[in-house]
Amino acid sequence: MRDAGAQTLDAMIDDFVSLGERGVGQTGSRDQMEALLGEPPPEMGIPFERLLGIVRETIVPHCFRTTHPRFLAFIPGAPTFPSILADCLASNANIFAGVWKEASGAAQVELVVLDWFRQILGYPPETRGILTGGGSEANLTALVVAREKIPFDERGKIVLYASEHRHWSIDRAAKIVGLRPDQIRPLACDADFRVRIDTLHEAVASDRQAGRLPWLVLANAGTTNTGSVDPLPAIADFCKREKLWLHVDAAYGWPMSLTTSGRQLLSGIERADSITVDPHKWFAQPFEAGCLLVRRGELLTQAFMMRPEYMQDVVPNHDEINFCDHGIALTRRFRALKIWFSVKLLGIGWFRRLIEHSIALAEYTQGLLEQTGRFEITSPRKLSIVCFRYLPRERKGEGEKERRREKEDLQPAIAEELTRTGRAFLSTTRLNGQSTLRLCFVSWRTTAADVDDVVRLLCEIGARLD
Ligand SMILES: Cc1ncc(COP(=O)(O)O)c(C=O)c1O
Repeated sequence: MRDAGAQTLDAMIDDFVSLGERGVGQTGSRDQMEALLGEPPPEMGIPFERLLGIVRETIVPHCFRTTHPRFLAFIPGAPTFPSILADCLASNANIFAGVWKEASGAAQVELVVLDWFRQILGYPPETRGILTGGGSEANLTALVVAREKIPFDERGKIVLYASEHRHWSIDRAAKIVGLRPDQIRPLACDADFRVRIDTLHEAVASDRQAGRLPWLVLANAGTTNTGSVDPLPAIADFCKREKLWLHVDAAYGWPMSLTTSGRQLLSGIERADSITVDPHKWFAQPFEAGCLLVRRGELLTQAFMMRPEYMQDVVPNHDEINFCDHGIALTRRFRALKIWFSVKLLGIGWFRRLIEHSIALAEYTQGLLEQTGRFEITSPRKLSIVCFRYLPRERKGEGEKERRREKEDLQPAIAEELTRTGRAFLSTTRLNGQSTLRLCFVSWRTTAADVDDVVRLLCEIGARLD
């Protein structure tokens, strides 16, 4: 065990330390991967060293590394080493974080971590929550809680309102809780990709008139596309007036609350009925770590608590929490440990500096892109995301339509070509119906030199493909 453990730890440290010097990763086709790894269950085992070799040389290299300093696609994740170690400790102890009596230490640590998040967001003391596998599970959990008080025979009439830029986990959660597609009302956004409050007013009024039951407003505190924050105070006022549940999806943007300017930007979030926050995005935790906070905490147990006879020995005392009563899973890993451990070791100031660092990098990127004169900014920096398009050269005799098509095709082609170099990984999205490049910064590893490199590559590849 000591020998195998030492080899594993060495491999982990090598990987962690040298990651930035290597490529971002590569992908294999299904056929290639099948040829490398497919096999029936082996009757006999193989030596540990060989197995570790397969992990290091075959499996990991065929994955893009979200932890890499130049992985700037989607919303990446870049954990710190203390949180990785703590996750290993949690696996080793295999603590069952579902019920208090079986793991009061783990439950208390989860309570502490949830209370830290509550304080960061300025939420009231009666808040309760749960750590989940991610933002998708947190959003689903929120919808289940919010729906609990709606009588069964009215559930076919309820309507959910959300920005056209919502994360699709909301649509999937709505589907799981039994909503039809016509029970989701997508709302148009302004030029900054923030939901337009007038469209919310109109949609709710027209649904009431049609005899439907306006139910829940989903507001974004950091959209996945652009990092936009919906007008939370105005939405909170409206929800209060109309008695609608306000759920804020802050999966990405929530750690902004650690900074003074971020706290202002997210002001109004503290009035939400529930909030999704994802520590495995911009809070440097290994996957999986999501979280849901619910203002009237008792609603969580009302939605999820069951008391089967085989659990009669582990019914908690009134001031203790069985976290299986707060969500979907009974058997849960001890997710809180990695968060608690890394915050205790590094201090919350480290996380605040991470947020400031990411914002500064995104600002620097935008300035650099503008300086080159080769790009148009399609969404100026919001939180730590910048969106932009490479501008193809004007060609003689070229019509407006052809130029638009060229521009349209060029953006994903540039992203693909850049990814093929292994130097960086970025993704595209669509804004106002047009393809756009996008960079998202959440990593403590990424530096201004990485940005210089990426912008230079974008210029070179853009010119070549153009
Ligand atoms: C705003 C937002 N909400 C929810 C999610 C889903 O979170 P997860 O991938 O942790 O399930 C994401 C993921 O990127 C997101 O950006």
